[in-house]
Amino acid sequence: MNDDVIDPLSLLEADTTLEAATPILALAANYLVGTRSGEGPVSTWHSADVIADRLNEPLPRRSRPLADVARRLSTMLLNDVNRLAHPMYIGHQVSAPLPAAVWTDALISALNQSMAVREMSPSFTPLEHQVVEWMTDLIGWDSRAGGTMTSGGTEATLTALLAARSRAVPNVWSHGLGDHAPVLVCGDHAHYAVSRAAGTMGLGVRRVISIPSVDHRMSVPQLRETLSSLRAAGTRVMAVVATAGCTATGSFDDLHGVADACEAFADDHGPLWMHVDAAHGGAAMLSPTHAHRVAGIARARSVAWDPHKTLLLPLSAGLLLMREEHDLDAAFAQKAPYLFTHNEDARAWDMGPRSFQCSRRADVLKLWVAFQRYGADALASLYDKLCHTALALHGLLEAHPHFASLHEPMSNILCFAWNPPDIDLADRDAFTDALRERYNRSGRGWITATTLDGRRVLRVTVMNARTDVPHVEALVQGLEAEAAYVLKHHR
Ligand SMILES: Cc1ncc(COP(=O)(O)O)c(C=O)c1O
Repeated sequence: MNDDVIDPLSLLEADTTLEAATPILALAANYLVGTRSGEGPVSTWHSADVIADRLNEPLPRRSRPLADVARRLSTMLLNDVNRLAHPMYIGHQVSAPLPAAVWTDALISALNQSMAVREMSPSFTPLEHQVVEWMTDLIGWDSRAGGTMTSGGTEATLTALLAARSRAVPNVWSHGLGDHAPVLVCGDHAHYAVSRAAGTMGLGVRRVISIPSVDHRMSVPQLRETLSSLRAAGTRVMAVVATAGCTATGSFDDLHGVADACEAFADDHGPLWMHVDAAHGGAAMLSPTHAHRVAGIARARSVAWDPHKTLLLPLSAGLLLMREEHDLDAAFAQKAPYLFTHNEDARAWDMGPRSFQCSRRADVLKLWVAFQRYGADALASLYDKLCHTALALHGLLEAHPHFASLHEPMSNILCFAWNPPDIDLADRDAFTDALRERYNRSGRGWITATTLDGRRVLRVTVMNARTDVPHVEALVQGLEAEAAYVLKHHR
């Protein structure tokens, strides 16, 4: 019989030391060091089928040394990853993460404290309260504020809207929505987290009222008009969701304008619940240069903010912040006597009753380490740099004969169009998709595309602080070169 099967514990013991961990940790360090300079391809040209074939093997029944596993991992998988640490990766809203936070992830796993209840995470529960307090202080809220970490913006917005639902329909947890379900109002550019929440909570996506945008910002006059019609029809509004850093263009809604509307259309519970989805743009709060983008955020009742976006943390690290912490208690009226104690004092510490998750990683530790290591001012400068690079690309495109910016970036996201000469308008979208695909497959760089105002457009999100002006110049040159090929071969 295989020795490994006889004494599996010895395998665990063998893997415990720093020496044993080194082959895996070295993969991470070598990746970071080898990629940051911008050498090598940004992504892979292999299809999912090719990669799946390579991985198709029977369930391993016997052990291997960890160093062998690291070698297999490297040869089977690492060549085909998206290299977010490469300065030419200017794609989705996922960061080239802060190294100190990367290393902390291993410690979080080693300690494996669950944030469900304080007794499972005796030092990290108070830590999460502390970090949440730093964030609510930044917003400008007082000691009544609180919040919780989440898996990201989707969960944060769901949780905020569950709390808002409980306010609008007080018995909803036990009785359901009944016949008079309220509606939710948001800009037409809101992230799908909002409609997903509506579907998830049984409100129905048809009860999400979408307000048109002007320059990719929710139109406040149209919001007021809609709220007025809803009031006239006797329809209760559960919440108005504003976006601070919208997914497509990184634009910020006028938060004071939205807050004024929420106050003007107050109902018998007080001003309408204003939730700000600052999942993307929350980092602007740290930056003296960009803080004006989120002016008015303190007037929100709840805020979603993802440190795993523009604070450059590795996945996952999301935050839900509440102006009144007790609002969160209404989001989940869950009873679980084996976990949640009736001791009022302990309830104040325990995070589980306020979170969609039960077992939950102590992701707060990497956020704390990021603040300790780099300081809030350096993180703000990094955010400024991301935005500055997007602005530089905007400047480059202004003079370009065939590529045109579609908006001035309000953050680190820029959408731009390819306007090749002599192409039928009907073919433009297909050409744009072909250009993006060819550019990404070339390994030169990696960008995204989206549909904006009914048209396929190219989109970049600068999420790597090493991406600089020469890199966005190289992006334009790379697109020009691939565009020539696409025009020649795709007609
Ligand atoms: C504005 C906005 N809100 C919410 C989300 C969802 O965040 P997460 O993916 O962390 O759940 C995103 C993500 O792209 C976003 O851009």
